[in-house]
Formats: sequence, structure tokens, C-alpha cells
Amino acid sequence: MNADEQKKAAAVRALDFIEPGMKLGLGTGSTAEHFVRALGARVKEGLEIVGVPTSERTGKLAESLGIPLTNLDDTPHLDITVDGADELDIELRLIKGGGGALLREKIVATASDRMIVIADASKLVKTLGAFPLPVEVVPFGAPVTARKIAEVAGALGCTGKMSRRADDYGEPYFTDNGNFIYDCAFGAIPDADALAPALNRIPGVVDNGLFVGIASLAIVGTPSGTDIIEKK
Ligand code: 5RP
Repeated sequence: MNADEQKKAAAVRALDFIEPGMKLGLGTGSTAEHFVRALGARVKEGLEIVGVPTSERTGKLAESLGIPLTNLDDTPHLDITVDGADELDIELRLIKGGGGALLREKIVATASDRMIVIADASKLVKTLGAFPLPVEVVPFGAPVTARKIAEVAGALGCTGKMSRRADDYGEPYFTDNGNFIYDCAFGAIPDADALAPALNRIPGVVDNGLFVGIASLAIVGTPSGTDIIEKK
């Protein structure tokens, strides 16, 4: 299977964990989209679930497929969130936010009893960091915040180019929450457990794409099928 087929296989296998009546967090990105489409097909067949989308984009897709939607105001406790990742390691630490939805993704995942990650094999890495770490930052004073990110990350052995994300027209990219994203090309992150909270202590940082201690199971597509990684 190629990468997209692996994503789809992982997404379809995630349906095995879904039971009637569940309240689900719906992730963002191409792998999560496979899951939402597969879930939509089950809903058409009569499966009763309700979903909380992690982005405007996922919300529109889910709506178009007839998936009943709610939000965390009305439904603050979810059973399972199924979402993709930009990178994951064997301890189920993740980098997320390539699609810009890291903040809502983290809020929704931590409102859920379980987070299931779905990914193709290329996402499974020994050490996180080849994928630039997205950090969501309030626009006010963003260059100051960016300097502090560099200082804090540097003290934890992470240095590299930090670029403010731009859209397809070269204009600043804004998240669904109206914030900027800095993509931090740190390379291997020696201590993700320490970096994640340290970044979030900086005024102006809204959240960062390190998900540590959140996911409990991953389904990874491989050239020949899918593998399950469970949190030890
Ligand atoms: C969006 C994300 C996505 O889950 C991540 O970017 C993976 O995307 P894809 O499934 O398209 O490879 O974190 O913010």
C-alpha cells in the first residue's frame, strides 16, 4: 500500500473502536478525513454517534456527510477522539499541527477518554523533530514571543530556523482561533516531555504541537496492513 492507502487502512481500522451512542472527537488532516468519510458511511447505514470537529474544515466535511455534530459547550465529555499526526514515537508522543488545528485538536483530545492516532508508516519516528514543531502564538507582540520560544527551546537543546507560517498567497496564516503559527525546525527534540510545558509557560504562546501523555493507542498503516501501538 502507498502512503494514502496506509492512511485509509488505519482510518478504517479505527472504526472497530467505535460503538453506537459514542461521542467522538473528529480530527483534522488527510488521514482524519479518511476516518470522517468512513464514519459518514457508517452513519448512513444507521450508526448513531455524535461528533465534535477539531476544525472548521472537518466540521464542513462531517456536515456534508450527514454526521450529527455538537460542540464542547453542550457535550464537554467525549468517549474517543480519532486524529492524525505529523509524527509519533513508540511512546505515543506526537507532533501535530501541520494542518494548523493543534489547539482545538488538543482541547478535544483531552476532553476525551481516549485519543486514537491514525497514521501511515512514514509518521512513526525514533525521535520527534524532523517535522518542524508548530507553535500557536497570539499576534500581539509575536516577534517578542518568538524570541522567547527560541530562548526556552535553546535551553532544552532545540535550535533551528523558526518561520511564521504563511498561506498560499504569502500572507500570514491565521488559525481557526485567529492566531499565528511558528513552525520551528529544531531537528531531533531531545526532551519533548520538558519542551512541551516549557513552551506553554511563555506569555503569548497559546499551545504547541507536542502531544505528550494524551494518545493511548495508535493505528499505523504499513505497506501490508496495519499495526497497533498501545501505550505501555
Ligand atoms: C492537523 C494535524 C494533522 O493531524 C497532521 O498534520 C497530519 O496530517 P495528515 O493526516 O494530512 O498527514 O495535526 O493540525
